Amino acid sequence: MLRLEDIRKSFDTGRDRLDVLRGVDLTVGEGEIVAIVGPSGVGKSTLLHIMGALDVPTSGKVYVRGTDVFAMSEAERAAFRNRTVGFVFQFHHLLKELTALENVMMPCLVGGMDRDEAASRAEELLAAVRLSDRADHRPGELSGGEEQRAAVARALAASPLMVLADEPSGNLDRASSDELHDLIWGLRESIGQTFVIVTHNPDLFERADRVVVLKEGLATEREGGARR
Ligand SMILES: Nc1ncnc2c1ncn2[C@@H]1O[C@H](COP(=O)(O)OP(=O)(O)O)[C@@H](O)[C@H]1O
Ligand SMILES: [Mg+2]
Repeated sequence: MLRLEDIRKSFDTGRDRLDVLRGVDLTVGEGEIVAIVGPSGVGKSTLLHIMGALDVPTSGKVYVRGTDVFAMSEAERAAFRNRTVGFVFQFHHLLKELTALENVMMPCLVGGMDRDEAASRAEELLAAVRLSDRADHRPGELSGGEEQRAAVARALAASPLMVLADEPSGNLDRASSDELHDLIWGLRESIGQTFVIVTHNPDLFERADRVVVLKEGLATEREGGARR
């Protein structure tokens, strides 16, 4: 499904060069839940952004179902990203002027779906994340856990091949993060959704199929709790 080959990423900081990723090889299979762990500043978000074609590597290849993502033009890549990847961030990034329903509709509308179809798709997704009774609420009127569940619904709206999540439960209390994790595993169970999740949360990475440990610019791997 996703294959990274010798991914390198350096940032020019003016005075010197910061080599954040120094040759990361990684594959993610269909329906897998892969956790990425490592200390703060090690390059987890950078790696996730490259996986989702939000950021360009200094060198190396990213293949999604065999397609070389960075061989595309920027416009092709943007369209490819909209069809292929759903993102969930630590802070939900929902549009605060829109209701939960409208936020979830947005990727469908961007993808060219008509309004009625987008609304019914969004209603289905809000039901799946147990937010049907919050559909008309704006983000400010939702709890942190509800905002993250709405963000998951939005990430799923365009039926992406994979959902990439950056510390999705990093800002939640225990009960809300348990509920979010159960939702993620439920979606893998029900629709075979693939997830790559950056996390510090042992409750999450202990349940993952595989755990990728990022250290000094390289990725090493161990099986997650689910397969031990
Ligand atoms: N656009 C950028 N320009 C310069 N340095 C950056 C940029 N983005 C990230 N970095 C640096 O790269 C390193 C890795 O960042 P990041 O991927 O956000 O780490 P993590 O998510 O593991 O905490 C950090 O030292 C960060 O300061
Ligand atoms: Mg980060």
